[in-house]
Amino acid sequence: MRRFVAALAAAVAVTLYPVAAGAQTYPERTITVVVPFAAGGPTDTVTRLVAEAMSKDLGQQVIVENVGGAGGTLGAGRVAKAEPDGYTLLLHHIGMATSATLYRKLAYDTLNAFEYVGLVTEVPMTIVGRKDLEPADLKGLVEYAKANKDSVTVANAGIGAASHLCGMLFMSAIKTPLVTVPYKGTGPAMTDLLGGQVDIMCDQTTNTTKQIQGGTIKAYAVTSPERLDVLPDVPTTTEVGLPDVQISIWHGLYAPKGTPAEITERLSKSLQVALKDENVAARFAELGTRPSPQADATPAALKAKLENEIARWKPIIEAAGQYAD
Ligand code: MLT
Repeated sequence: MRRFVAALAAAVAVTLYPVAAGAQTYPERTITVVVPFAAGGPTDTVTRLVAEAMSKDLGQQVIVENVGGAGGTLGAGRVAKAEPDGYTLLLHHIGMATSATLYRKLAYDTLNAFEYVGLVTEVPMTIVGRKDLEPADLKGLVEYAKANKDSVTVANAGIGAASHLCGMLFMSAIKTPLVTVPYKGTGPAMTDLLGGQVDIMCDQTTNTTKQIQGGTIKAYAVTSPERLDVLPDVPTTTEVGLPDVQISIWHGLYAPKGTPAEITERLSKSLQVALKDENVAARFAELGTRPSPQADATPAALKAKLENEIARWKPIIEAAGQYAD
């Protein structure tokens, strides 16, 4: 009798509150998180740390697939048209907001092609140079760049990428356009900076801190309002006279449009667990960043952030009139 009542209650519940197919037992297999930049770079580093912790919580493998190119829009496009079943996700950053205006022929409608899981972290940036670059400080770098503007090269990860935005802020602050060299991510760009093939890069601390601490690249400034504990000797852009070059790179986790709310809620819970994970917090701290607050690791917080950031960057980009296509 009791089993009959339980079965009846379950049947009634399903009728009254239909749970999307597969949501009840999600996840049942490996989840892929697309990183829209090359392996070994800052977004890849952040994603692999979070994926490992989420994998523990969800009881299924969470693997990373790197789909670099076009400032992150190729990877985002891949997820926009993926099956909305919770098994293909996207971890992207501020580039999600800037590309919505920079690319007039995007293969997806940024505000209507994704469901939201939550914010992950917000990473400061650093202005760095190859080890043997002549200038010892930012003042010297600015003079050097102005004197050699046709030959000084600035690496970035494509139009709309964080390194592109920061590079643009730097060049407009010194009123000197320099030669930009695009890569599929700042992972491969760092390899060329270490090898002396490019001169300057503005990149996230998650990719530069270890190199700066190891003395393999030169650090000129951090783009955060305050100095960073992990880089105490590196001045802020404000300290060295470029207060307009302030930027930090927020990152969010997304799913394809139509992914059931039960699944994005489950993923949001798992993201919150991952951001409380000791290893994630320790590694983030070593790399000059920290996990987003629990309250921000939610669909609503990410949705609001993306909408606000698209609105913030749109007039700036339109005023510059520089589009990717
Ligand atoms: C990367 O992971 O390569 C970066 O996030 C690229 C960028 O936006 O600069």
